[in-house]
Amino acid sequence: MIVVKTVEEMKALIGKSEWLSVGFVPTMGALHEGHLSLIKESKRDNQITVVSIFVNPTQFNDPADFRNYPREVEKDKTLLEKALVDYLFLPSKNEIYPKEDLHSYDLGGVQNHLEGKFRPGHFNGVASVVKRLFDVVKPTKAYFGLKDFQQFQVIKKLNENYNLGVEIIGCETLREDDGLAMSSRNKRLTDAERILAANLSKALKLVAEKGTSETSEKLEEIGKLFLSQYSGINLEYFKVLDPESLIGVNPKKNPGSRIALLAAKIGDVRLIDNMMI
Ligand code: PAJ
Repeated sequence: MIVVKTVEEMKALIGKSEWLSVGFVPTMGALHEGHLSLIKESKRDNQITVVSIFVNPTQFNDPADFRNYPREVEKDKTLLEKALVDYLFLPSKNEIYPKEDLHSYDLGGVQNHLEGKFRPGHFNGVASVVKRLFDVVKPTKAYFGLKDFQQFQVIKKLNENYNLGVEIIGCETLREDDGLAMSSRNKRLTDAERILAANLSKALKLVAEKGTSETSEKLEEIGKLFLSQYSGINLEYFKVLDPESLIGVNPKKNPGSRIALLAAKIGDVRLIDNMMI
């Protein structure tokens, strides 16, 4: 695996090659099986695979969350070597933002709800870094996890609205044995918090199982009531929405027509998850 630290070098490596297809997996590191599943898909579909690790300051609305975000580059490198990744792009902040990006990205409104409401500016920061990374890596296909479902929708909009010409692939959520969605932030949970965290996916599963027979409002009530049993879980939202717009409630009850999404704080760790209904 070649570790690339500058934009210039990355552009040169990609530019001079005759690769028919470049697969790209952007990450913020502290890698887990979820990240590795995206890499596996990229390796299967493309001639070369580029992974980036960059803890992007512009998408953190909470400075403490940025400071405490796990950073384990050496361990990550070993995992990426093992996964037979071709290039690891590991830029500094100055490489990505030689000057501040003050652009307000047109993301079609999908960025203003849910995560956008609780984390103002978050998706503008995600759009800014992903656009910059696409400009440098010039991928054919880029792989994103459906665990961050709203992010996936935001990136599809970014790609469309700015004609980035990348094929955006959504990959299934990988979970721990007890159902907790894998996340770099899970590393920050204490043992007791880790046990509590499994209830997030239990709530989603409960709602998904009732799905086809209940209205969205009723499902939200069921999810909230289930989680209210646990005083250590501070729920920020539990919503059942139309997966495309993430705004309107889809009145249809057929399988796959709605999605339940939640965010909760356990201790000072903020977790998100979702499930199709
Ligand atoms: P990060 O949280 O490191 O996630 C990198 C990619 O891995 C994202 O596409 C995310 O959805 C995916 N992922 C995380 N947990 C997963 C799981 N349990 N199963 C499957 N995929 C999972 O998301 C980001 O970084 C950043 O916002 C980024 C897109 C890199 C921009 O800075």
